[in-house]
Amino acid sequence: MDIKTLLSQLTLEEKASLCSGIDSWRTEPIPRLSIPSAVLSDGPHGLRKEISDENGQKTGTVESVCFPTGGAVACSFDRSLIRRMGEALGEECQAENVHVILGPAVNIKRSPLCGRNFEYLSEDPYLAGEMAASYIQGVESQGVGTSLKHFAANNQENRRMTVSAEIDERTLREIYLAGFETAVKKGKPTTVMCSYNKINGVYSSENKRLLTDILRKEWGFDGLVMSDWGAVNRRPDGVLAGLDLEMPSSHGENDAEIVKAVKEGRIREEDVDIVAGRVLKLVYDSLAKEKKNVSYSKEEHHTLARKIASESMVLLKNENEILPLDASKKIAFIGKFAEVPRYQGGGSSHINSYKLTGALEAVKEICSVSYAQGYILEEDRTEETLLKEAVEAAKAADVAVIFAGLPDAFESEGYDRPHMKMPECQNRLIEAVCEVQKHVVVVLHNGAPVEIPWAGKVDGILESYLGGQAVGGAQVDVLFGNVNPSGKLAETIPLKLSDNPSYLNFPGEKDRVEYREGIFVGYRYYDKKEMGVLYPFGYGLSYTTFSYSGLKADKTEINDTDTLQVSVTVKNTGDRAGKEVIQLYVGSLPGPEKAAIRPVRELKGFEKVELQPGESKEVSFTLDKRSFAFYNSEIPGWYVEDGEYEISIGKSSRELAGSLTVTVHPASPIRPHYTMESTVGDLLKNEKAKARFKAYMAKMFPGQDTDEELLMMEAVMDQVPVHSICSFHPNVTLRELQEIVDEANR
Ligand code: BGC
Repeated sequence: MDIKTLLSQLTLEEKASLCSGIDSWRTEPIPRLSIPSAVLSDGPHGLRKEISDENGQKTGTVESVCFPTGGAVACSFDRSLIRRMGEALGEECQAENVHVILGPAVNIKRSPLCGRNFEYLSEDPYLAGEMAASYIQGVESQGVGTSLKHFAANNQENRRMTVSAEIDERTLREIYLAGFETAVKKGKPTTVMCSYNKINGVYSSENKRLLTDILRKEWGFDGLVMSDWGAVNRRPDGVLAGLDLEMPSSHGENDAEIVKAVKEGRIREEDVDIVAGRVLKLVYDSLAKEKKNVSYSKEEHHTLARKIASESMVLLKNENEILPLDASKKIAFIGKFAEVPRYQGGGSSHINSYKLTGALEAVKEICSVSYAQGYILEEDRTEETLLKEAVEAAKAADVAVIFAGLPDAFESEGYDRPHMKMPECQNRLIEAVCEVQKHVVVVLHNGAPVEIPWAGKVDGILESYLGGQAVGGAQVDVLFGNVNPSGKLAETIPLKLSDNPSYLNFPGEKDRVEYREGIFVGYRYYDKKEMGVLYPFGYGLSYTTFSYSGLKADKTEINDTDTLQVSVTVKNTGDRAGKEVIQLYVGSLPGPEKAAIRPVRELKGFEKVELQPGESKEVSFTLDKRSFAFYNSEIPGWYVEDGEYEISIGKSSRELAGSLTVTVHPASPIRPHYTMESTVGDLLKNEKAKARFKAYMAKMFPGQDTDEELLMMEAVMDQVPVHSICSFHPNVTLRELQEIVDEANR
């Protein structure tokens, strides 16, 4: 379709009408020219397509498969697995005639309290970006578009539609934009959805710097930008900023604002052509990719959801070899979640799952267990009879497996959690069971970390997050060892909420939240502060053991325009097959040329490998400039400081299996610019200025000319601005000092 020709046939009013949806899920059609709609649906971990009756009344959403939520699947650290999930979602969209699925959601988990963390991927932008890119590739391979959301800095639900996230440029780039950047560059999503909030006072929906300068010009995005539902403030400003499509509909209001703005000369008709043209492109590209008569097997997708869930769960604790469970023993399943698991979160991602398997049902494939409900979910109150029954069941068994976690109301889109605690009635149940039974495993269902006061009392903890509709089967697979656990935490579990770096500034004051912890989010903070955590980023146990050897790099010194190959051999040293996530971290070592404050180490690579007992594999990583760089807001750009960097291979961010050091030189070092306000110390780093200053010292400090005396004077002068020298030394002139500064700049 020739979009230009089509645009030339449209009136201004028609073009403006294309700039918002006709309803919640469709772009505006133009029947006069037979222009159809593109159909959008939520996302991200399942298809939530609304259905209506013949009168247009909404009657619900289609039945589809609820895959593990973003927070769960990120723990798989497995690009091909999340890609496969994307392919399945794409198939479901084709079958339901949906052109764009609204996901993935890649906002950084700044605080464990954010109500939507279950949808988000990680506290780490590298992991979030890589996983999002693979999800996008999977969906898009089926001819279905994705919508990378929520761009950007929507890290809390509290006042999400009015709050301004106050973030310094370096933090924005390194933490809050980096995941989007990778997802855009590698994944190439068809659309991006802007966030509700403001960033440094400007709504994302009218933020030209974000939507055009960074997204399109810097990152090369060439798709469509839509608003989050209801995120538009001043529509004409949005047009100028690069917001193509307002969703859902403004019922003509904002379309009229666009027309008015053109007529009043505030925006040009060509500006409208650009955004309306992108909407038309989305519509016609989507039509061209439609596949007719697609159907899919819900059972197969359910099986896939089970596999993904089982490879995403994180085994947090396994003492006295309590796991895998021995099916010949007397096992008690305790807790309502064994029967009806919590497997997804509330809000726009809520799926009408075509079926749900709890562990109590799935365990029948393996053995019979006794069951006690243990607690109620409707309110946080101990039901004494249920507690007693549970204690009796635990007493009568060899092992008690307690299915616990957060009830629906504790976390959802739309609001944040006030604390990180589990319901007290569940904590009490676990404590009571531990008093009568030594062999206790707790299986957790929660979208974000909880405080675990009983962690020291139980032998096993399996974190299943919100694992999708097949979670019960996956739990049984892992508990009984049919699947060897291989998930790793995509976020740190702190000991307590107040340890979290955003604690003092979350959710901010009224409509302003300052990201004062800067780049020190998640493990970047805990590591720098040398703080204890309950479970570190990247952590997760297996039923087998792995050893690492032969860590090497192909060079010891590189320019930042080169790449560096790093490899390591991993061996399965246990007696069962398993998968290991090999994590590569880079840390900048202190040195004379290093001025930027950096985290101790940052994730810059990961690979997941499957190994049979005794088998080993070599795993390689390619590092480039970005692996060593920080965002320098003064230049501005990504910049590598000259000096040594430590490359570590980790089983987690805290358990390193080996490290090596490489030297990296920036190919084009930054030439500092000196002024009279530069310090003497700054100028002494410049060879020309140093020579001039040395000669000049004698004039500044007559009679002090031994090397030692001059060194002491240099130290004293180190932090004095050049212009101030005159205040202390009557025989020194400003003109002479200016000459030294000019010489240094030459
Ligand atoms: C959410 C988006 C979602 C949209 C449509 C918004 O409230 O923030 O993630 O895609 O609604 O349901």
